Amino acid sequence: MALPAFQAANAADMRRSMGRFTTGVAIVTSGVGDSACGMTISSLTSICLDPAILLVSLTEGARTTGMVADTGRFAVSILAARQEAIARRFATRGGARFEGLDCEYGEYGVPMIEDALVQAECDVHSAHQVGDHAVFYGLVRNLRCREGTGLAFYSGRFGDFHDFGHDEMPWMF
Ligand SMILES: Cc1cc2nc3c(=O)[nH]c(=O)nc-3n(C[C@H](O)[C@H](O)[C@H](O)COP(=O)(O)O)c2cc1C
Repeated sequence: MALPAFQAANAADMRRSMGRFTTGVAIVTSGVGDSACGMTISSLTSICLDPAILLVSLTEGARTTGMVADTGRFAVSILAARQEAIARRFATRGGARFEGLDCEYGEYGVPMIEDALVQAECDVHSAHQVGDHAVFYGLVRNLRCREGTGLAFYSGRFGDFHDFGHDEMPWMF
């Protein structure tokens, strides 16, 4: 079969192409008490280790985006494979977020997803408007990690990770 021709990038092609990049899935939460909000993301990236800084890219107009900008704080919960329903819940526009959901809390009081693989509380280190997204660099203040398998996302579908059975490598980066 002939290779498709290169063509000028547009939003639909960008979404379809970047969907081929398998990612984990996380929930970004911000705000406390009744004003808490959250959304599903795959744009989580580790930026540097010392200091510990991560990045999230949040669409303009989402309630969570405004809350992160207003409070200067957010939390990240990296989901386990069995938490697909939570990923769907937090990706539904206008849908219920915390009703009937058990959360865990750290120093900041921002709700985090119970039994998530990783929970991190962050201060906004810096923020940039990039096109229709707000990119937040988060200085990680508090962090905890559990054993388990992460939820994966590829080409619009959820799944989990199966390794090739090779020895673990001491990757340095
Ligand atoms: C697997 C997955 C990953 C997503 N990643 C992002 C992301 O990185 N940034 C983003 O702005 N929206 C992302 N979304 C879409 C938001 O979760 C969705 O638009 C959400 O409803 C926004 O919150 P709102 O309802 O308060 O606007 C993702 C959705 C899914 C299902």
